[in-house]
Amino acid sequence: LASIEVDVSSLQPGMSLTAKWRGKPVFIRNRTEKEVEEAKAVALEELKDPVARNANLPADAQASDLDRSAGEGKENWIVMIGSCTHLGCVPLGQAGDFGGWFCPCHGSHYDTAGRIRKGPAPENLPVPTFSFVSDTVIKIG
Ligand code: FES
Repeated sequence: LASIEVDVSSLQPGMSLTAKWRGKPVFIRNRTEKEVEEAKAVALEELKDPVARNANLPADAQASDLDRSAGEGKENWIVMIGSCTHLGCVPLGQAGDFGGWFCPCHGSHYDTAGRIRKGPAPENLPVPTFSFVSDTVIKIG
């Protein structure tokens, strides 16, 4: 299926948008410094799912904040498929105990790096294949 290009020029720090790709919502967030710092401060041992689940990285990459994000120099950006890894509901942004996303269906809490921290979901929200084609346009797929 086709890839899509999303203009993110309107997203100031702390803002996000939801694009649609392959029938699924894709969350794109320009995280604040505080959100990035909070995610970086979490030790990998504390994570329920220590794997990055980032399609742009090797399958065994760890779920550090950097490897969950768009990477060096673009760590403020996070791009994830907005489908709860429990049973596929769409989580709500800036919600839950960890300030990231919260799935209201059965109470899964994701942190500001989209990593599962509490509740029944088994895995971090998946990061799809994506790249910046310019400073303000992200290509997904
Ligand atoms: Fe999200 Fe069950 S579908 S917690």
